[in-house]
This record gives sequence, structure tokens and C-alpha cells, in this order.
Amino acid sequence: MGRLFNKHIIVAISGGIAAYKSAELVRLLKKSGAQVQVVMTSGATEFITPLTLQALSGNAVHQHLLNPEAEAGMGHIQLARWADALLIAPTTANVMARLAQGQADDLLTTLCLATQAPVLLAPAMNQAMWTDSATQANLQILAQRGYQVCGPAEGEQACGDVGAGRMLEPSQLLHALDKQFEQGLLNGKKVVITAGPTREAIDPVRYISNHSSGKMGYALAAAARDQGAQVILISGPTHIAVPTDVTLVAVESAQQMLAASLEACLGADYFIASAAVSDYRPAQAAEQKLKKYNADHGLNIALIQNPDILATMAQTFPNTTHIGFAAETQQLITHAQTKLKAKAVQMIIANDVSDPSIGFNSDDNRVSLVTADGVDELPLLSKPALARRLIDAICKLSPH
Ligand code: PMT
Repeated sequence: MGRLFNKHIIVAISGGIAAYKSAELVRLLKKSGAQVQVVMTSGATEFITPLTLQALSGNAVHQHLLNPEAEAGMGHIQLARWADALLIAPTTANVMARLAQGQADDLLTTLCLATQAPVLLAPAMNQAMWTDSATQANLQILAQRGYQVCGPAEGEQACGDVGAGRMLEPSQLLHALDKQFEQGLLNGKKVVITAGPTREAIDPVRYISNHSSGKMGYALAAAARDQGAQVILISGPTHIAVPTDVTLVAVESAQQMLAASLEACLGADYFIASAAVSDYRPAQAAEQKLKKYNADHGLNIALIQNPDILATMAQTFPNTTHIGFAAETQQLITHAQTKLKAKAVQMIIANDVSDPSIGFNSDDNRVSLVTADGVDELPLLSKPALARRLIDAICKLSPH
């Protein structure tokens, strides 16, 4: 039984001449045992009839966003949730542009926004349209957001031109879909992840903290879970929904995060420290709210150092693979290399937080992976897309 057996696949067809190849793709998917729903744009129906796709998929074709009959059955949100993967084949230049803008003005674009499943694009267009700078800029945006781009191939085109822009063959697209369901790299593994900020109490109503949103750590938790891991997420206060099938341990202070990590790391295969832990805490948290007695006098708060959670874990659990971050505003790689050694960990993910578009509270991030073997720079990616790349890289670290 192949990996596509019983998988829920949406094949979305937009209006290009390559639409005829999608009929064969649907046939191959059915042959592999997949359950297939077909979505067609109005442009696609100019090239191939919905009846053909209905006959091949065994399901009525979805064509409209606001169709009362469809919404009573499998509406667009149910369809988005139903999907294990969504492939747009062909993906026209127009669809790429609309996706890059985050539009949701028809069923196809709405599904792409609503689904949590991987979305694959099979571009097909004239070679000049493909190389046009607008299309290439859209491509970059889409790849950055985690869309997987399959092709296009080079060769002779329907319009007579020769170049890049041919849609991949149905068998190649089948292979790309099949790869989505590869065995999880972390099957049977336990992964503990820290995320978000810590809060260090000054008095009952005030605290020292930082701008960490938890986005990076929560994305890592979802990516590790997707690879089959049992994930424990130890998080400081955030406003993010906990990924399904991830166990959350909510904490506030660095000391609480340390205690939770010591407990969770028993038998853990990986410890990933993405939390922005406060290095210092008030030596004594006041029991009552501090009063402003005299406006002319400042307030001195004595701070003491918090324990280093990552270094403690590396020391306490030598059989676990430890991965830390380094949030730096200068000499990124040098400081990351120092942390790699000082904390005795296998990898440091170096994050230049002097740039507000990456790092704290941003949707995107760009990091370098620092190990004893060298430095590997990753491109700018959305945090979920980067998290998938980081989990892949972490899985390649030799076991400890
Ligand atoms: O949460 P987001 O808004 O998505 O932002 C993501 C992020 C910027 C917080 C994240 O990418 C990041 O860089 N996290 C590490 C932040 C940090 O505190 O870095 P650091 O260089 O100060 O610490 C180095 C490492 O030691 C980190 O893995 C940290 O979790 C760990 N540490 C630090 C201090 C301490 N007392 N205990 C620790 O375990």
C-alpha cells in the first residue's frame, strides 16, 4: 500500500492549457488509493470540463466560493480542513499574483488561506511570463511563506516558445505529493521545546520581560509534531494557540521554566531552547505593590542572575541532543560560536535581532546554523517554513 493510500488530496485547476494534464494526475491519484476532491476556477472550465474531472475523481467538482448547495455539504472551510495536501496544477501567473497578495476572492485562493495542509504549486505559463520580474517576485514571496513550488520544466511550449514554463508531468506531480507523506523523521522521538518570554516579578503587578511572541518556538513545536515527535512545549506567556497534539507546560519565570525543563527532559531525545529567558531577576520580589513616595527619587532594583536553562540541560542530560538560539545585535556568528562552546550544545541557531523584520515578534526570520562543523546560512523564510527547515537540520545532527 503506497503512502498516498486514503490520503485526502485537493487538486485545484486554474485556467491554463496544461489543465488537460490534470485529468491524468487525478486518474493517477485515484489509482494510488487517494481520495480526491477537484476545485476548478472559471478559467479552468474553459480548457477542460468539470464532468471529466467528476468522472475521474468520483466526486462533484467544486467551482464556487458562495454556492449554498456546496456550503450545505462540504463548504470551503470543511474542504480546507479535509485536505492532507492541496496541489494547484496548473498554477497560472495570475493565481501566483493573487496568492502572493493574500487574496481570497474565489474558492481556490480562499482554500489556500484557510488550509493548514501543505500547498504545492505547479506553475505553467509562457516562458516570458515566467521570467518576468513580477512573477519572480511573487515566486519568492510564495516560497518564503512555505508554498512548495514544483517545476516548471523547460522545453517546447503550447504557444511555440521554448523555455521554462511547462507544467511538470502528472507522474512527477504524483511523486511530489507522495513525498509529502514520507515517514516522520522524528517518529518515536521525544522533543522538548522552550518558547516565548519569561516574566520576572518586581512586585505583584510589575515584571521584567522581553518582546518574544513565541511564534518561533510554537512553529518549531508544530514542525516537530509533523515529523512524528512527541512534543512538550514549555512556554512563557504568549497569545498563540497551542498546536494540536502538542503538550503545553505554561510557565512564567525562568526558575519555573528550569523546573519544567528538568522534569520534561527525562528520556528526551532533543531539547530545543528557543525561549527568550531573562538573564536576570529582581533579587527580591516585593510582596506588596511598590509605592511612588517621592517623585525626585529613582528606584533601584537589585538584580541577580537567573540559572542558564540550556547549559543546565546539556549538563544534566548528556544523552539528549541540545539546540540553542543566540539572539544577537552584533558579531552574530562570533557570539553564537562562543555560546556553542560555553553551553556545550550541538547547534546554535544564530538570530540577528537588530533587524526588526526578523527575530522578536516578526512573522519571518533569517538565521544561521552554527555547529562544530561550521556555519550554514538559511534564507529569509516565514517562521513556520523556517521551523520545518530547522527540524530537518536538527534531525541530521549525529545522535548524542
Ligand atoms: O518568540 P518570537 O517573537 O518568535 O522570537 C523568536 C526569538 C527571537 C525569541 C528566537 O528566535 C530566539 O532568538 N530565541 C533565543 C532568545 C535568547 O534569549 O537568546 P540568548 O542569546 O540570550 O540565549 C542563548 C540561548 O540560551 C537561548 O537558546 C536561550 O533560550 C538560552 N537561555 C538563555 C538564558 C537563560 N537564562 N537560559 C537559557 O536557557
